[in-house]
Amino acid sequence: MKKLCLLGLFVSLASPTVLAATTPAPLENKDAFVNNLMKQMTLDEKIGQLRLISIGPEMPREMIRKEIAAGNIGGTFNSITRAENRPMQDAAMRSRLKIPMFFAYDVIHGHRTIFPIPIALASSWDMDAIGLSGRIAAKEAAADSLDITFAPMVDVSRDPRWGRTSEGFGEDTYLVSRIAGVMVKAFQGAGANTADSIMASVKHFALYGAVEGGRDYNVVDMSPVKMYQDYLPPYRAAIDAGAGGVMVALNSINGVPATADTWLMNDLLRTEWGFKGLAVSDHGAIFELIKHGVARDGREAAKLAIKAGIHMSMNDTLYGKELPGLLKAGEIQQGDIDNAVRAVLGAKYDMGLFNDPYLRIGKAEDDPVDTYAESRLHRAEARDVARRSLVLLKNQGETLPLNKTAKIALVGPLAKAPIDMMGSWAAAGRPAQSVTLFDGMTRALGDQSTLIYARGANITGDKKVLDYLNFLNFDAPEVVDDPRSAQVLIDEAVNAAKGADVIVAAVGESRGMSHESSSRTDLNIPASQRDLIKALKATGRPLVLVLMNGRPLSILEENAQADAILETWFSGTEGGNAIADVLFGDYNPSGKLPITFPRSVGQIPTYYNHLSIGRPFTPGKPGNYTSQYFDDTTGPLFPFGFGLSYTQFSLTDMALSSTTLNKTGKLDASVMLTNTGKRDGEAVVQLYIQDVTGSMIRPVKELKNFQKIMLKAGEQKVVHFTITEDDLKFFNAQLKYAAEPGKFNVQIGLDSQDVTQQSFELL
Ligand code: NOJ
Repeated sequence: MKKLCLLGLFVSLASPTVLAATTPAPLENKDAFVNNLMKQMTLDEKIGQLRLISIGPEMPREMIRKEIAAGNIGGTFNSITRAENRPMQDAAMRSRLKIPMFFAYDVIHGHRTIFPIPIALASSWDMDAIGLSGRIAAKEAAADSLDITFAPMVDVSRDPRWGRTSEGFGEDTYLVSRIAGVMVKAFQGAGANTADSIMASVKHFALYGAVEGGRDYNVVDMSPVKMYQDYLPPYRAAIDAGAGGVMVALNSINGVPATADTWLMNDLLRTEWGFKGLAVSDHGAIFELIKHGVARDGREAAKLAIKAGIHMSMNDTLYGKELPGLLKAGEIQQGDIDNAVRAVLGAKYDMGLFNDPYLRIGKAEDDPVDTYAESRLHRAEARDVARRSLVLLKNQGETLPLNKTAKIALVGPLAKAPIDMMGSWAAAGRPAQSVTLFDGMTRALGDQSTLIYARGANITGDKKVLDYLNFLNFDAPEVVDDPRSAQVLIDEAVNAAKGADVIVAAVGESRGMSHESSSRTDLNIPASQRDLIKALKATGRPLVLVLMNGRPLSILEENAQADAILETWFSGTEGGNAIADVLFGDYNPSGKLPITFPRSVGQIPTYYNHLSIGRPFTPGKPGNYTSQYFDDTTGPLFPFGFGLSYTQFSLTDMALSSTTLNKTGKLDASVMLTNTGKRDGEAVVQLYIQDVTGSMIRPVKELKNFQKIMLKAGEQKVVHFTITEDDLKFFNAQLKYAAEPGKFNVQIGLDSQDVTQQSFELL
């Protein structure tokens, strides 16, 4: 009972302005509680709850607090410390009904400790590691008074020109769906209402990863079968895992902007999937309905959005401005507004805020003395997760691991790049706390370090690109050029290389190149860096490329030039240490690509699980009217699921327990995994299935399961997978999810291409 006093219900009951004096509902009963509260709210108070504002440094705090106290704001994002949020919650507690605020943030891959970017997390194929990153992010964010994150982003992305590929978990529906569930559970911990957890708001619903041409914010046009089969399952997995929120995508789908799409939001999400949580618009998306050309003006935009069940409007004022008039004119009903308010209050209830508005804000005397204190970071965990996410793409002549006694030249614009190491959407991460590759290698080498450093090149020599990258940064330019000429930089690096036994070149993209709005027409490493690589190659010294980038790059030429390539994506606060661990062999790399690396941008799309076609490319038969680009080799540079190790693995003795499967039965697929090399290491054994004939064309193969297994040098293990009818189901032309009898190929491999195969019949 004492806690109920916090709600202000008693206070409001005593207030003469209260419309109906009702007995406070028991806090244990969410629906009754929310309904009771709603009975006491004025229209303005209701509409106030639907407003989500971004807090910028320039915004007058006093005015915001006044607005909150007047009941005009439901929540904020981008205010991220207890000291900042407490006065706002205090203001909410001064409001008539004392409805608590919630505080949101884009906690995508870490909060203060930055973990590898999502595409890198996916490269670990390690659900425990991924879950750990999410759990720590939630703990750190909750300790900073945050209640909800706009994550996970589970948009399947098959077009690496799209800059937000970096924020997702890759091209494969099954892998992304698995991670979606893991991330939601990690963020929400023992419950979104617990003090060390935050609510997950899955995004961007829906199909944002399929924007035409990989150009951000562009349209999506997609068949229903493809939607259901390939793109929708990850959102569904997040919702099934209990995600309390959904962020609605900025794109349109088959001609209807998601923000106005009643089919998407009501028929699919709520009716078909049973989602009962909070739907938040993306930034300014309600206003953008005018730009999309489906709303004449703000009034119509607000009407479309509220009708589609967009509960909170992010950073536009249209709901506040237009809903009262629309209601008065009978163009919307009270129920439309009430549904939205109910969802906002319900989410606040689920976040535990009615029980205690200060659940995550805590008491002032317990605030951290230094928000950025080292002691608040989780470095050991970040380092471990980061090294699990690194993918060894090439290792000719065992160039790696490096000998610590070797003389190493470290070159490249990303060798000392603390901001880039964190990747985009780095939440509250601080560049000063991130370990660069230079730092990590220097530390690993200790006193014996003979590391010679030279920058070698700027990120880009293209002024237009540089201006774009720096336009993204509000405070200070993120990409700072070395003013010396390109040739002087290269000469310095070549000199360094000549005095070394081996060259390590940290090259790729700056983090802003793989970010929201950062779509690219080519996937090359920028020319300035390619010139550097060429010059380094010419020295004849062994060349190791450490790639940093947020999307697959087309590195055909660099692959030919380099002796070894380590894909490190953007690996977070502890990136430099993690990469050094792998470079020096203190950790044996085990990451696998969650997305295909094309040979060239012209090959896109290159995702491995494409549909079967009538004239598939037939190797060794040129000019034979099969599907190919005649001017390049067919197939990817590196396939989905690929990644090397410092040891070798073999798969032998694949067997199926039967050549038939009953609809209610089980089939065992097994294979002998052997570590044939000289080091202990982890392999990812991948199970793919192909539905050979069906009522519709089916993918050439689809990932259905995998296991990450550690084996000592020389050790063997039989790996088992269970296959049931569920693994064979798909959405047919009538969108019925069912398996069809017939032949299925089962493939097991260490990547999606190099597989052994057996078949069975579904009866
Ligand atoms: C726009 C982005 O599309 C979305 O992912 C993000 O959550 C919001 N801005 C808030 O920062």
